[in-house]
Amino acid sequence: MTKLPEHEYRLLDALEEGSSRSVDELVEATGFDQSLVMAAAKSLSGRDLVSVEEIAREEFIITEEGMSVSRDGLPEKCALVAILDNGGSASFQELPKLLGKDEVRAEVKWLTKKGWCSRESGLLVVTDKGKAAVNDAGPDEVFVCRLAQMERAYTDDLASVGTDVESGLDALKGRSDLFKRKKRVTRRLSLTGEGAKLKRGGVEPAREVTQLTQDLLVSGEWRDVVFKEYDPSLESAECHPGKTHPLQRVIQETRRTFLEMGFEEARSPMVDTAFWVFDALFQPQDHPAREMQDTFYVGNPDRGKLPDPAYVERVRRTHEDGGDTGSTGWRYKWKLSRAEQLVMRTHTTAATIRALAENPNPPRKVFSIGRTFRRENIDQTHLAEFIQIDGIIIDEKADLASLFGTLGEFYRKMGAEEVRFRPSFFPYTEPSAEVFAKLGNLGWVEMCGSGVFRPEVTRPLGCKVPVLAWGGGIERVAMMRFGLDDIRKLYLSDIDWLKGSALCR
Ligand code: PHE
Repeated sequence: MTKLPEHEYRLLDALEEGSSRSVDELVEATGFDQSLVMAAAKSLSGRDLVSVEEIAREEFIITEEGMSVSRDGLPEKCALVAILDNGGSASFQELPKLLGKDEVRAEVKWLTKKGWCSRESGLLVVTDKGKAAVNDAGPDEVFVCRLAQMERAYTDDLASVGTDVESGLDALKGRSDLFKRKKRVTRRLSLTGEGAKLKRGGVEPAREVTQLTQDLLVSGEWRDVVFKEYDPSLESAECHPGKTHPLQRVIQETRRTFLEMGFEEARSPMVDTAFWVFDALFQPQDHPAREMQDTFYVGNPDRGKLPDPAYVERVRRTHEDGGDTGSTGWRYKWKLSRAEQLVMRTHTTAATIRALAENPNPPRKVFSIGRTFRRENIDQTHLAEFIQIDGIIIDEKADLASLFGTLGEFYRKMGAEEVRFRPSFFPYTEPSAEVFAKLGNLGWVEMCGSGVFRPEVTRPLGCKVPVLAWGGGIERVAMMRFGLDDIRKLYLSDIDWLKGSALCR
């Protein structure tokens, strides 16, 4: 005996080998509603026990208009009778009065079209065909009257009571107001060979359950129930739960990645003194990056507090003549007032240099993620406000190889197909390298700048070991991750894109 869920069992029971039944018939036979019959049918047909045949049929439904025609006859038939009563002809002028209505154009049209009347010098004269038609119902009238009796019917319903549906519809062309037509799909179910075999072998109904519960286990009832199988192929409504913004997810993932690699996180203010953003990084005070057209300066207040004066003094000397760093410096007059200026930080290297100043003792690995600001013209790959990731590694044994290894690992982890390093220049690193990642549709895109901090940066802090440093935009990483070719997309609330963005790869 094969166990089947109750409603599948009843459906199978209602089907006979070698004949099919419509869903309506099965609704009647099983006492289930249509959706339950269909659910059982779907489940059974999924296991090839039942086959479902879909038949497209046309249904006709009588309208108010059609109802009144079935009672009173077609308007041209009424007109025909009235003209015959009038002696077999009527002038166009007297027609409205004769028919008891102002608008008689439709009647005239149908009377002449059907050949019941002919026009003869201002008169409408009943023809022989018209005379014969009075006592004879045409196919259009038969169709309408039959349909009116049934209210709604399929072609075969009408045909089964002797209606010539084809001629009826033909004669009714252009009279769409008398009835409506609807295409309907009806389904017929029949047993497959497999289904018939199963039924012959004996089936019995069993309770269908969706979950194995403690009760089922304890009572032993689990032996008698049928477990409903999952069907992941079933259609379901799309559902878009609230989720974290894609850019935010990349930020979180970046943070997690560095924390997992043993880094600590540092933060620094978005509005900072030029000292931390530029001077501590040995960026000369006349460096173009400091210009108004590249950096946002804060107007009020326009000055900030500087750190330990002894450190500031060492930075001044390093800029002017190299101080104790072994460098010749930039050879210009360093101004305290320029270092005090408040700016919107242009990079988060301000955060890592602050962290280095706080504790330059190796070994240390620090990263920072935060918003940065530059007076950029906004385009496909540039924003004036963006998120940067910066990192440093303070370690006696740190070298370029470990820098490239760390960065290569990070960007590949974030989805780069390939990572490349190219020599570059920054005032605070030597050697310096730019890191490029290959992003499918975009080709090679610059991801970050990197290098080994110069002694002019580390010595004033009393740090004597190599410090690897790098920094770059997070949006570029997000573009890589989401296959975007326009950075601005990340900041537009394109709801379809947001809904569609995958939560994981
Ligand atoms: N601060 C640089 C930038 O914003 C990147 C960088 C950081 C380069 C650290 C070298 C070292 O582009």
